[in-house]
Parts: sequence; C-alpha cells; structure tokens
Amino acid sequence: MLNADTTDPAVLRELIAGELAAARERTGRLTDCVEDDELVAQHSPLMSPLVWDLAHIGNQEELWLLRNVGGRDPMHPEIDPLYDAFEHPRSERPSLPLLPPKEARGYAHDVRGRVLDLLAASPLEGSPLLDAGFAFGMIVQHEQQHDETMLITHQLRKGPAALTAPAPPDHADRLPAEVLVPAGPFTMGTDTEPWALDNERPAHRVELPAYWLDTAPVSNAAYQVFIADGGYDDPRWWTERGWAHRQQAGLAAPLFWSLDGGQWMRRRFGTLEPVPPREPVLHVSWYEADAYARWAGRRLPTEAEWEKAARHDPATGRSRRFPWGDESPTPAHANLGQQHLQPAPVGSYPAGQSPYGVRQLIGDVWEWTSSDFHGYPGFRVWPYKEYSEVFFGPEYKVLRGGSFAVAPVACRGTFRNWDYPVRRQIFSGFRTARDAGEEA
Ligand SMILES: [Fe+2]
Repeated sequence: MLNADTTDPAVLRELIAGELAAARERTGRLTDCVEDDELVAQHSPLMSPLVWDLAHIGNQEELWLLRNVGGRDPMHPEIDPLYDAFEHPRSERPSLPLLPPKEARGYAHDVRGRVLDLLAASPLEGSPLLDAGFAFGMIVQHEQQHDETMLITHQLRKGPAALTAPAPPDHADRLPAEVLVPAGPFTMGTDTEPWALDNERPAHRVELPAYWLDTAPVSNAAYQVFIADGGYDDPRWWTERGWAHRQQAGLAAPLFWSLDGGQWMRRRFGTLEPVPPREPVLHVSWYEADAYARWAGRRLPTEAEWEKAARHDPATGRSRRFPWGDESPTPAHANLGQQHLQPAPVGSYPAGQSPYGVRQLIGDVWEWTSSDFHGYPGFRVWPYKEYSEVFFGPEYKVLRGGSFAVAPVACRGTFRNWDYPVRRQIFSGFRTARDAGEEA
C-alpha cells in the first residue's frame, strides 16, 4: 500500500492499478451474488438500489479521472444528474430512470478501461490532483467506500445469505479494562499521508489532559447488562434529544437484535444467530453509545482522545500512521476489507495494539466519538466542497477507526467518518473513556 516514500512513478502506477483492481473485484463480489431484480430493488429507504451504486462508482471515476485529470469529454452527459448524490437523496433513487444492471456494469467497465490507459500514460506529478496519484487514490477510496455502503445494503436486505466469509481469528487476551493516556501534546491529522482527504489535514498540535480509555470496544455482553439494567428505560442516561429519539423510534436494543425466549438473537447477513457475547457491540446509534457510557459512569472519548491513543508514540513523540507503526495493515494487525463479515472478539489483534496497549482501534467496528464534525485549524477545501465542508457542524458526530467492512486503502489513523447521531445501520460500535483527574 502507498506511503509517503512511494515516489517512483512506475511503482506508483503498479500500486494504483492493483488498488483499482481490488476495489472492482470487491464491487463484483457484492453485485454478482444476487439476481438482477435484487440489484434494482430498494432494500431499505436508507439505501440506494445496488445498481445505483454500481453506475455511480463508474460515473465518479469518469468525472474525476477521465474528465478532470484526462481532459476528456463526457461519455454520457445525460446520465450525470442521475448519479449525482447531491441531486437525488437515496429514497428517490429507485424512481429514477437508472441504467439497468447490464448497462451499469458495461459503463463502469468502459470507464475503467479508459482509466487504465490514462494511468499508463500519466506522469503522476505536475498538478495537485496528479501528485502521488491523488485523484486515483481518491477514486479507489470512493469505490471502496461504496462497497462498504453496498455491504450495509446486504445487511438490510431480507432473505437468505448471499455472502459468506470465514469467522475472524479468535486470539483475544485477558487485558486490563482500561489504559491511562498521560497528559501532554500530540500531533493530530496529517500533512504527509499522500491520499489523505481534506478533513484529515493539516497536522496540528493538540494538548490533552490525562484520560483513561477502554482497552477494547464495548462488548455485546457488557451492552446486555446495560439493557438488563433498564438502560433503555431510564432518561437519566440519555441526552434530551437522545431520549426523545429513543421514545419516538421505540429503541430497545441494537439494530438487528431480537429476543427469543430469554436469548438475544441477531440477524447478520441473512443468518439468525445468538448474540455472541465477546464480540464488540455493533449497529448502535450515537445516542445509544452515549447513554451506555453515562450509565457506566463514563463518557465517549473525544475524537482527539481517540486519535492520540491510536497514533501517539510516547517514546518518540511522533504520531504513527497506524497504532502498530507506519507499516500498512496486514491481516495480523486488524480486521479490515470484508475478509470477515463480523468483528473479532474484544481483545483480539495483539499485533495491532497501540503503544499505550489499546486494541482494535483500526478495523472491527467504527467507533463513535463525542465530537461534532469540524475542519481542523487551517482546513482547506480539497478537491471539492461536497467532500467534507458541507457536512461540518453540530449535526454530525465523528466516527473513527474503520470497521471490518473498510478496505485498508480507505483506513488510517487519521481517517474521519461522520454520520447523524440516530444512524445505526452502519457498522458502528464504541468504546468509553473517563477523565483521569488528580490520580494521573
Ligand atoms: Fe459517492
């Protein structure tokens, strides 16, 4: 995978071609496993039909690479508005005259062929979009992000399982429940990660008081204690908005959970199974995560606290690309890339732990933080306002670390995701924190 030392254009070209192929292979796996009628159906009003994602992937690739980088004319200008995510909300997309599956596949395939020709001839330097292959990297990440979105659609889809994958490795250790992160400054964000998006930049110093952070994400077992203790029925644990939402939406457990006798069950990609107690809790909204934390006498970590625990190396004072170092993720470090269709038991991935001993910061489940989504000091829009800036503000909460559904190329210690606090069809979990105060 790319890092700041990848400067040889031939190496970079090969790397980009490999990442483009990997993304397309995954897109194929997500769309070839169901019949055409399932590709055009809307499985949830929260999601697009899969066939929309398919052509949208090709359309964005055409727009950014063939037109903006390559200076080519639009291939099918008449379809552009159909696949503009800002023009049509997801709920509207099934009623649009979308390209049927065969045409959508053909379009994405045609675009890709031309992109590979463009890549072969590109100097990969000389303009901000081209330097280090940025625009190609952005498009690779875009496709992988839509693959994650399509995996969410698969989770929402009714019917028998269409996808399979082996269970993640189970090598969970017995660990202290929390670790102390001492007071002090660290470097948040990045100036050097070549494919980092605008909201991850620039690098800046942040001073934090000491805090304690959970060693691993909150487990299903722990979350069931919150449920059994009446956590969903006690407004003391909820913010005012959270309580109103809990009442109105009738929340009583994470999404996809149901009670069978006394046993909590969950539906996972078409399979009903007992809730595995040692797995991180998944499919909870920010409001639920926040209520759990308050019930536990704790709080959600801020985004800065999450990133310091994930990247700061107290021995050198510098911030790493990943908790384990600067090396790109391998299957030993983290549960990423849809290799498995569920998170690993809490306390897994010893090779992926951070210098403070925190586990599973990358992969497994997205982690809600207490922070609203804002630009860092010195933020500059790049390369377009709709990537991040239009979402800045108190409406969105930041999630960190990626899930089992996130590709390594679209995940790093600086990566920021954001969503509404009511959302829970996403692969979201959390861990908790508390102030260290005097004792530190
Ligand atoms: Fe998109």
